[in-house]
Amino acid sequence: MDNKKEILLMRHISKKYPGVQALDDVSFSLLTGEIHALVGANGAGKSTLVGILSGARDKDEGQIFIDGEEVCIENPLSAIELGIGYVPQELILCNDLSVAENIFLNRQPHKKAPVSIIDVNTMYREAEKVLSLLGIEIDVRAPVGNFSASTQQMVALGMALSRNAKIMILDEPSASLSKKEIESLFKVMLRLRDAGHALIYISHRLEEVFEIADRLTVLRDGRSLGTYWVKDVNREMLVNLITGKQLTSETNSRILDKDIATKLSVRNLTIPGKLNDISFDVRRGEVLGLFGQVGSGRTEVLRAIFGLENIESGEFYMDGNPYNAKSPGTAIANEIGFLTEDRKHQGLVLNLDITDNFLIGFWDVVKKWFVIDEKKEDVVVQDKMSSLQIKASNTAQEVGSLSGGNQQKVVLGKWLIRNSKILLLDEPTKGIDVGAKSEFYRIIKELAGNDITIILVSSELPEIMTLCDRVLVMRDGAVTGEFIVPEASEKTILEKAL
Ligand SMILES: Nc1ncnc2c1ncn2[C@@H]1O[C@H](COP(=O)(O)OP(=O)(O)O)[C@@H](O)[C@H]1O
Ligand SMILES: [Mg+2]
Repeated sequence: MDNKKEILLMRHISKKYPGVQALDDVSFSLLTGEIHALVGANGAGKSTLVGILSGARDKDEGQIFIDGEEVCIENPLSAIELGIGYVPQELILCNDLSVAENIFLNRQPHKKAPVSIIDVNTMYREAEKVLSLLGIEIDVRAPVGNFSASTQQMVALGMALSRNAKIMILDEPSASLSKKEIESLFKVMLRLRDAGHALIYISHRLEEVFEIADRLTVLRDGRSLGTYWVKDVNREMLVNLITGKQLTSETNSRILDKDIATKLSVRNLTIPGKLNDISFDVRRGEVLGLFGQVGSGRTEVLRAIFGLENIESGEFYMDGNPYNAKSPGTAIANEIGFLTEDRKHQGLVLNLDITDNFLIGFWDVVKKWFVIDEKKEDVVVQDKMSSLQIKASNTAQEVGSLSGGNQQKVVLGKWLIRNSKILLLDEPTKGIDVGAKSEFYRIIKELAGNDITIILVSSELPEIMTLCDRVLVMRDGAVTGEFIVPEASEKTILEKAL
């Protein structure tokens, strides 16, 4: 590290939001030519720290030095001018503008004579060049909103890349990327590192931290627990630093009774271009995993069951009777609940409180003679809050201010209040920290123990192994394998997915 110099020093940074000390006297040092992971549970203060560095948020106290000189980062523009590139956790792309226009937002190349006009051909060419560095080839003229979340993430990265920043901040970029996309992202990160850039990488996935980072800094409850060389820490130590708890991740060993009745049957489900002749049964209280790469058709299976897809052919049976999945309304009437991958946009209304999110569109349960019975409402809501152990000051707290894990529990609570007997869970622990994850696992196991049927889509094999009784492996819209989890190995399952 002798030839590496400190490009950034953040000293004694503190930041308070109403009621929360988000950062408490945190110091952070970054070297040229290093990938520095910032790890910590949800709410530890990671996004706040990099938000301050990128000018997106103000600090209350502390100093920032770049190349040894104190700087004042007043707003995102001054951060950009200081050579700081930022890919935020919540993307802020303009959906109606083209990919290229997003990458070159506010700084499109211009033709000089006779009047200054935007040189679109140069812009398209440059945008293609930047994206090819990331290993993706897409139509840069198409609106960004047309592309998947993972492609949009790559575009956001392209934006920072094209500004050639000395310091690059990536706040949980991998949360919406497939394995392949993460691999190309890592390649780009290593190339940037070797060229002398300094990278701050935030991720919940410890495997990624071990794979890519040179050093790491742990935050917990707004305090820094120190910086380590990655080679000097192991997984267990890191988990303990982050949570203070042990991680529960033994392979599921539950053996389901042979004669438990089938809850839902799917027969010959076909959606042109998405799913090809899918058939399976899932039993009462069973946890069935759908494992495969992003794009293998897992989400479409859930969407079809929930009445969100145009099905070309195929039938569903619920408790042995035909079930016509024609709309989400029908699905809900048949006691099906759906936790979408994108809970912020599809599952929750962030600026409403917990009570409203629980009961939205479903006030009947707490009505008496057409008016809301507040006592009953309070009982229903309190009961779910305590059984799911939702951590909030009270039922009137805005859902947007809860941590990811607690937001996820609110979505679950919403479906349980609707009496769901089948829960469709799409990547339910994506973006929540290890502590909240083990708690979520406990809840899923409890629900299954209470006869609720669960279909779980996950890209994380350890999660499938921990939670599921059985797993269907998908690839290119078809089922390529089926395993009883307690009898299968990770390797045999993985092979079917590749
Ligand atoms: N805009 C905000 N208003 C109020 N509280 C906030 C705001 N942003 C973050 N917080 C709180 O500050 C703490 C740190 O949050 P954050 O930096 O987002 O953590 P992380 O990125 O590590 O999950 C959390 O308790 C969070 O609820
Ligand atoms: Mg964050």
